[in-house]
Amino acid sequence: MPACDSGSSGDGDGESSDSESDTGDPQPTPTGAQCDPANTLTYENFGEAFMDDYCTACHASTVTGDDRFDAPVGVDYDTQADIQMLADDIDAWAAATDEVTNAFMPPPEATGAAFPSLQERRDLAAWLACGAP
Ligand code: HEC
Repeated sequence: MPACDSGSSGDGDGESSDSESDTGDPQPTPTGAQCDPANTLTYENFGEAFMDDYCTACHASTVTGDDRFDAPVGVDYDTQADIQMLADDIDAWAAATDEVTNAFMPPPEATGAAFPSLQERRDLAAWLACGAP
């Protein structure tokens, strides 16, 4: 088994001094997705359903106590405005591009959760990059 020295060489972009990276585990990374002028994804035809399917079981203001499964209080995706305000974090924890795949959310250990496909994570990045219209 390869030793866990922190030198994950490949696509590293110099954030290796992050406090939680002792083991060289991947860290939430901005995808850097650019808005495609041909984007057709909207809150109505994509974002709301994505959040309902994969995120708001834990991240909604109406979900409290143990039902949040430790999702931080206040990190809620009730509305389009909430999502737009928190877009950078959503991108870094759950979105993907050709270069970057963030699959930190839903938490991989959340056995009851539904998980987006890679294509859905790419759509998420594309939608957020346009300002989550
Ligand atoms: C099963 C419950 C659950 C689901 C479903 C879930 N999360 Fe989370 N979320 C958590 C927990 C627990 C944390 C805290 C994890 C940590 O800090 O390591 C968290 C933390 C986060 C954070 C970091 C917030 C911060 O300020 O530290 C973001 C961003 C996030 N989630 C986005 C999402 C998105 C986007 C989705 C849907 C794709 C999602 N989550 C689905 C439980 C959940």
